[in-house]
Amino acid sequence: MNFQQVVESRRSVRGFLPKTIPHDTLTRVLKLANLAPSNCNIQPWHVFVASGESLAALKAAYIEAATSTPPKPDYPSPRPFPEPYRQRQIDCAIALYNEMGIARGDKLARDAATLRNFEFFDAPHVLFIGMNAKFGASVALDVGMYAQTLMLALTAEGLASCAQGALRQYPQIVRDFFELDDDINILMGLSFGYEDTSVAANHTRVGREDITSSVIFRE
Ligand SMILES: Cc1cc2nc3c(=O)[nH]c(=O)nc-3n(C[C@H](O)[C@H](O)[C@H](O)COP(=O)(O)O)c2cc1C
Repeated sequence: MNFQQVVESRRSVRGFLPKTIPHDTLTRVLKLANLAPSNCNIQPWHVFVASGESLAALKAAYIEAATSTPPKPDYPSPRPFPEPYRQRQIDCAIALYNEMGIARGDKLARDAATLRNFEFFDAPHVLFIGMNAKFGASVALDVGMYAQTLMLALTAEGLASCAQGALRQYPQIVRDFFELDDDINILMGLSFGYEDTSVAANHTRVGREDITSSVIFRE
């Protein structure tokens, strides 16, 4: 795939085949992501990868927390989003739930769909990306660049992923499991592997606004 094809074919995948990624492929992808730029080259990303029994243990801990404990994220998301972002959020949810056959008022089914986040969408691998707790938005920008480079590198290898802010809701699970110092904050998770094309959620396609809504030219 050339660059345009990689960018255009990356999308969020929420259902995976039970097939693990060879370790050398995983290493190659992580080495590519590691080439992401960062302010003064500080490379602030910390990445914690789990597969196999480790993934199963994390999944159990997340499900337990998500069904019994209020979230305690290091970085709460501002909600509700102001307009026009809220409408885009709603459109995105409608697109996903339509594909999944979930009716608008079906709260039980929506809750079950949300819980799929904590099952890592059945992915064979999950990773968490963190940074030092002293950093703020300016360094989170670097970590975001790392995350996109990583997702594109996965796509270029024929792999699929879903970035998950939901996995930032219980950061202590990640710190405990990977035995991290308290000064590592968790920004996001990423489930990844081989796409299961038979999963309805994976038929979701969301568009983008025209660039005129985000770009201003002065010439
Ligand atoms: C930082 C970030 C956090 C996200 N969190 C979630 C999440 O918790 N659960 C989920 O299903 N999708 C999540 N997504 C996926 C977005 O919904 C998705 O990127 C967006 O709808 C655009 O669709 P696309 O990725 O298929 O192009 C997240 C994406 C990003 C970049």
